[in-house]
Amino acid sequence: MTDRWADELAFATDLARRAGAILIASYEKLDRIDYKSKRDIVTNADYASERLVIDAIKARYPGDAILAEESGEHAGVLRDDGSHNGRTWVIDPLDGTVNYANGIPYYCVSIGLVVDDLPTVGVVFDPARDDLYSAAVDGPAMLDGTPIRSSIKEALSDYVVSLAVIGRGGLARERKIAPLIRIHRRMGSAALALVYVANGRFDAFIQNGGLSPWDVAAAGLIVERAGALVTDITGGPWWNSKLEGPRTSVLAAPAAQHPALLELLGSLKTRLQTRR
Ligand code: IPD
Ligand code: CA
Ligand code: CA
Repeated sequence: MTDRWADELAFATDLARRAGAILIASYEKLDRIDYKSKRDIVTNADYASERLVIDAIKARYPGDAILAEESGEHAGVLRDDGSHNGRTWVIDPLDGTVNYANGIPYYCVSIGLVVDDLPTVGVVFDPARDDLYSAAVDGPAMLDGTPIRSSIKEALSDYVVSLAVIGRGGLARERKIAPLIRIHRRMGSAALALVYVANGRFDAFIQNGGLSPWDVAAAGLIVERAGALVTDITGGPWWNSKLEGPRTSVLAAPAAQHPALLELLGSLKTRLQTRR
């Protein structure tokens, strides 16, 4: 158990559960769905969950900045010398909105704390199953307080993979990957699917872009602390807060199979995409 980040971990855990309760309360009871763009929707539950999370962070850690999907950046209160404390909470109040709005119980709340540009605390809560995944940078990944580890399967041919090769030619590439693994799935909540790699529900996770910091800040850390290797699809760092737009890609897999998957993506000329 971590000591240094124990307060933040306990705070984020309680907050994710409270945000999850808001989502459960409106589940299958939505009276309105708004369109952010042709394919992107948002519900009152997204906003209510985000409001709760932001208000709680501002009350408890007023000096911390916040980056939240629906409302963007919130600066923290500066120190007396005018400097910022280097801490940013990165929030997805509802990941898997399309599932949620359609009554598919596969969605989550994601709360991450990034300190000096390093993902440091992460909590992903699945309200439908009451599963709470968490980790701090100096401790183990946990599911409901019990340590978890990523898959120990030896053969790639046994892998069940969360696979989203988006953009032009994506499906053709998925068809080329399919015979090499047991099966692939696309669940519709990247944060929840990614965190499944932390306890082997998924053996690996691949998405070649279309992700934003709030999709990965918490889950990426949790999966790393569960022993898996997490990179972007070129093998570079998965966390890059400077990327503009949904330009984050992720390849997460146990160290034994990460190189093979990286090579496979390279051989299929899988490039970063920003649109489905
Ligand atoms: C989306 C989901 C989806 C992923 C997209 C995300 P949202 O987040 O995680 O699975 O493929 O890239 O934007 O809109 O449901 O919060
Ligand atoms: Ca999301
Ligand atoms: Ca969202």
